[in-house]
Amino acid sequence: MLKVTETPLQFLPRLSERLKREIWIKRDDLNGDILTAGNKLRKLAYLLADAKEKGADTVVTTGGPNSNHARATAAWAIRMGLRPVLVLAGREPDARRGNYLLNSLMGVEMKFSGARTQAEMEAALADYADQLAQSGRRPYVIGIGGSNGLGSLGYVDAYNEMKRQAEAANVRFDWLFAAAGSGGTLAGLICGRDLAGDATRIAGISPWLGESEIRQRIDHCLAELAELKKAEAEPRMESESRQRYLVSDAYLGKGYGVPTDAGMEALRLLAQTEAIMLDHVYTAKAMAGCMDFIRRELVKPGERVLFWHTGGTPGLFVLE
Ligand SMILES: Cc1ncc(COP(=O)(O)O)c(C=O)c1O
Repeated sequence: MLKVTETPLQFLPRLSERLKREIWIKRDDLNGDILTAGNKLRKLAYLLADAKEKGADTVVTTGGPNSNHARATAAWAIRMGLRPVLVLAGREPDARRGNYLLNSLMGVEMKFSGARTQAEMEAALADYADQLAQSGRRPYVIGIGGSNGLGSLGYVDAYNEMKRQAEAANVRFDWLFAAAGSGGTLAGLICGRDLAGDATRIAGISPWLGESEIRQRIDHCLAELAELKKAEAEPRMESESRQRYLVSDAYLGKGYGVPTDAGMEALRLLAQTEAIMLDHVYTAKAMAGCMDFIRRELVKPGERVLFWHTGGTPGLFVLE
């Protein structure tokens, strides 16, 4: 199995002073190197171990043309002696930048399907995997964002890692914010929190799907996780007045990958106060959400916040 190294949990003193709340960050942007960094490594550790166990020789997945998940999957597949194939949405970009540049340099087989919706992406992925199988390859298919119960186990582990670090630093978090794209990261964190019996409120900020669609994805992963984890502790019972988790699509703006003013303001603020870089697609919008929750006092004075940095830095290099 891939080795997942512990990522730092850091206090952000200057941002905390500016926003008048105690804010910490979990640095999953430091998970590996430029080809592997970000939240995907934790899911891929489980998924690629499964691919190997099942005797696959090819790993096929999908994402946008500048997808972090697709790039990280390709990189780890190569390192494990598997052949990556990416069936990417939309059309081939005009310029080689960001993750598309990295995939090109790794010589990854990429097919642009023209797909625009998640259903079209999934259909194109399944079709191409069939074609690969018919041509004699043994493909292992990883769905959008690697988000299923098995992949999400990586974020149950991540929650436990963070909890150990927080205990060593003698802190507890009232809130946890993260970007929720295909939902597996948030589902793993929610399951980890429930199994630990913690009261931390978890808020997922969507950079892609509407609230009901992202909820469906998260709930689907949670149901699969419950199956996988059934030998362990029961999830904490929710009180009726409190939802198990929150999601918001209010910070999405014009759509996936399109920068928002609030996101760019959040990105600049973190860069200028703490010299930590977010990406415009996922984490800047998540931080914009976190800052807005603080501004509106949904995060009350005296409450402590954890912002989970899920990576995405190479994707930043498509910005003009
Ligand atoms: C940088 C970054 N953050 C967050 C996410 C969202 O994670 P998930 O798909 O598990 O919801 C992604 C997914 O592609 C990502 O690349």
